[in-house]
Amino acid sequence: TGSDAGDVRADSPVVVVANRLPVDQVTDPDGTTRWQRSPGGLVTALEPFVAGRGGAWVGWSGSAGEAPEPFESGGMSLIPVELSEEEVDRYYEGMSNASLWPLYHDVVEKPEYHRTWWDTYVQVNKRFADRAAEVAADDAIVWVHDYQLQLVPAMLRQRRPDLTIGFFLHIPFPPYELFTQLPWRSAIVEGLLGADLVGFQLPSAATNFVQLARRLHELPTRGPAIEYDGRTVIARAFPISIDVAAFDQLASSPEVLARAKEIRAELGDPDKMILGVDRLDYTKGISVRLNAFQEMLEDGVVEAPGTVMVQVATPSRERVEHYVHMRETIEQQVGHINGVFGSIGSPAVHYFNQSMPREELAALYRAADVMLVTPYRDGMNLVAKEYVAARSDHGGALVLSEFAGAAAELRQAFLVNPHDITGVKNQLLRALRVEPAEGARRMRAMRRYLVKHDLDHWASSFFDALRAQA
Ligand code: ADP
Ligand code: F6P
Repeated sequence: TGSDAGDVRADSPVVVVANRLPVDQVTDPDGTTRWQRSPGGLVTALEPFVAGRGGAWVGWSGSAGEAPEPFESGGMSLIPVELSEEEVDRYYEGMSNASLWPLYHDVVEKPEYHRTWWDTYVQVNKRFADRAAEVAADDAIVWVHDYQLQLVPAMLRQRRPDLTIGFFLHIPFPPYELFTQLPWRSAIVEGLLGADLVGFQLPSAATNFVQLARRLHELPTRGPAIEYDGRTVIARAFPISIDVAAFDQLASSPEVLARAKEIRAELGDPDKMILGVDRLDYTKGISVRLNAFQEMLEDGVVEAPGTVMVQVATPSRERVEHYVHMRETIEQQVGHINGVFGSIGSPAVHYFNQSMPREELAALYRAADVMLVTPYRDGMNLVAKEYVAARSDHGGALVLSEFAGAAAELRQAFLVNPHDITGVKNQLLRALRVEPAEGARRMRAMRRYLVKHDLDHWASSFFDALRAQA
């Protein structure tokens, strides 16, 4: 089977296919290139899984132009896929992030549909399928990920019927009424049905998909099973998680604890520190929490610098229009709050448009009294899980949107509807004032749940279910 892919042999028994490699190629101002960790929850979740199995990872290097040669890194074979400038523009920024992303997130922003974007999406999905078909060993298991590559399962099955193919969607899957807006809805459903197992974050998303197969394609279904093309495709929920033990250990290390103390001191030893950590994305509801904090300062229920907020927002999809506007809005809001409520050397909101090392994030989690996670819609939200995993001291409080997948699991969080600003303010205040015993009770319960439902649990339940389909 398959031909040689550069210096990587076509013999990988486990192949992961995702839009991005776990590392991004970046070019420094002096022209030298280097690799750095890619942003987002998908990479956080999958990297330990692939590395632990010595698998191959097919993905884009993050920059346009000729793809680097395949290489070994951290126990994985990385197989870069090339994207031209035009493909980045149409497949990644266009179809993936200006059509599918907003459509799948409850049309928080209006999706745009362009035929040229779709044509390029098809073309790029073919390339990923070709590459995966080249590196997979006979009867290998190939696991395809996320909304950028929904056509790959069917394309891959056509090229390599011997493979067992799984697909996992990291983001929400919308109800029939929204999904059917998509001019290419049938092609997407057929693309996904190329898999043996289609995994979603929530049971409701799996039900949405089964319903589409039934209503749109008139396929016979029974529970999670869809009969298609002489095969049975299973659609089920597998809520993703993090490597809880590893994160816990990192967050309890002496270095991180010392850094957490230092952060509090650098903030001017506030009574209360509120934290937000996100990719800078309009689905994350960063404005909601800034509004809530601003109103609380205006109402006088909290005062700066006694209470401060730290918002870390990793740059993301910076050329997509929705993202440009959102960044301007957020930066204006931060400027306004600090203009009114800050003083020399003591802003009320400390805002960072930067990616931070994991140690620094862990220290921020340990330092924060309240973690604010307020997306309008989110597939899971791993930041919420990282915060809980970091708090082995049972301190801190999590304010969590009902519209994050994580809310189905972290029931002891202070749950909020991000559309209801009064509700967000009330819950934020409760979280700021929670009695230590009550806060510890909530944190302990969430940690108990998380320890059992960690990354390994997610990956092995998906893998076991997929093998059962082989
Ligand atoms: P998404 O996949 O939409 O980005 P998640 O919350 O599921 O959202 O995952 C985000 C991941 O990215 C987490 O592992 C988080 O630690 C990491 N992350 C978020 N913001 C930053 C940042 N500023 N610096 C470094 N890592 C970040
Ligand atoms: O799961 C959400 C996700 O979109 C991943 O598919 C993606 O890799 C990550 O967030 C970060 O986004 P991007 O790759 O567009 O920078």
